[in-house]
Amino acid sequence: MTGPAVLLLDAAGPESAALARAAAARSHQVHAATTTADGQAPAPLAGQVVTDFARPDRAVEDITAYARRHRVGAVLTANEYLTELAALVCAELGLPGNDPRLAHAARDKATMASALTAAGVRIPYTWLVHDDTELHDALADAAVGFPCVIKPVSGAGSAGVTVVTSAAQAAAAADTARMAHRRYGGEGEAGILVQTYAAGDEYSVETVTQDAVTTHLAVTRKVVTGGAHRVETGHSLPVRLPPATAAAVHREVDAAIRAVGIRHGASHTEVVIDTDGRCTVIEIAARLGAGHIGLLLRHALGIDIFTALLDVALGRPAALTPTAHGHATVRFITSPRTGRLTSLTGFPKRGPGVPYVRWRAAIGGPVNAVSANADRLGYFIVTGPDAAEVEQRADTLARQVRLQVEPPPSGGGPDQVRSASTAAMAP
Ligand SMILES: Nc1ncnc2c1ncn2[C@@H]1O[C@H](COP(=O)(O)OP(=O)(O)OP(=O)(O)O)[C@@H](O)[C@H]1O
Ligand SMILES: [Mg+2]
Repeated sequence: MTGPAVLLLDAAGPESAALARAAAARSHQVHAATTTADGQAPAPLAGQVVTDFARPDRAVEDITAYARRHRVGAVLTANEYLTELAALVCAELGLPGNDPRLAHAARDKATMASALTAAGVRIPYTWLVHDDTELHDALADAAVGFPCVIKPVSGAGSAGVTVVTSAAQAAAAADTARMAHRRYGGEGEAGILVQTYAAGDEYSVETVTQDAVTTHLAVTRKVVTGGAHRVETGHSLPVRLPPATAAAVHREVDAAIRAVGIRHGASHTEVVIDTDGRCTVIEIAARLGAGHIGLLLRHALGIDIFTALLDVALGRPAALTPTAHGHATVRFITSPRTGRLTSLTGFPKRGPGVPYVRWRAAIGGPVNAVSANADRLGYFIVTGPDAAEVEQRADTLARQVRLQVEPPPSGGGPDQVRSASTAAMAP
């Protein structure tokens, strides 16, 4: 006997594919809501409803009508841009989901800043600016200072985010933020954010909330590029913070989860911890962490997060207790320059302790100096029982990767370079 059908909002991407596999393994029919702008679903689907994600009212109508026709009993998304739509659809269908009145706050960083501030969560001091005068006022505010961060209101994947060290850089950074690709276009907010720079080490907290009961599965340490554009080039979990720091981080994250109305589902909260152990929340997303964090949870802790999220969405008890006590890390390879990738050597092969490797960039094709997640060229995962050994092995493997990138015609000759992420991760 098959259970209720499962509907994914956007079925492209590795996390959606894993959710689809988890549902199919439990004999649920898997449907998807898609838009022609998105990629193809990787898994075969029982059916799909094509709608316009840029028009939420219309999308809710299309999707709920489809869901009612197909006996859908769970609606999920791994797509950052669709978490608010998921909350609206779940509410309309009476399925377990997040609070639709607050879901916008997990998507729109200006609304998020207001909601988190009102809930007493420590966040960077934030200005929402709409024009050059407001930009000037924000930069003149002594509470902002330099460096500061200029970013889009509703971006993702680090696109359009710039760390600015002087007023002279602000206009270009503001243009970059304004022009950041808006995945589904649509109307709405103009504005960009100017924020104080939170100095410290970057982490994320991976959490599942079910019936408003929150379980923190792991804290993940990030490797992030330096400079003007910050891109995550590595995630490692679980990190064991000093108990007092962990308690402080969990307090902030719990308050953030409540403030943005997460009741049933995953959340991924990015935080910076300073040298005094103080935690600042950079952002919260009402979805599983991307960057293969789901795989890391499985390999390090034995948690099948995709099946767990399916259970949460179906309103069934989710298995969230670790069954393993290892460590896992993913390392992304990036190019330090824009040009044409002419060769790649030393990229690791799948094998014991290296369960996943994937290279995405074509030899002979263009590559970008890294300024957003989309510029990452490939990744590999290393796992094992001992955190220090896993990290050391990942560092060694990353150092062996060599890219040859030919500069664009105006540049110099071909150049043998080490991957930027390797350099960034070297101890
Ligand atoms: N206020 C801040 N202080 C310090 N660093 C920041 C701040 N805001 C952003 N950053 C840096 O820029 C990166 C990207 O910013 P942010 O997370 O807000 O953008 P995003 O597009 O939502 O990213 P992603 O989807 O990749 O998580 C952060 O991971 C962090 O390294
Ligand atoms: Mg982020």
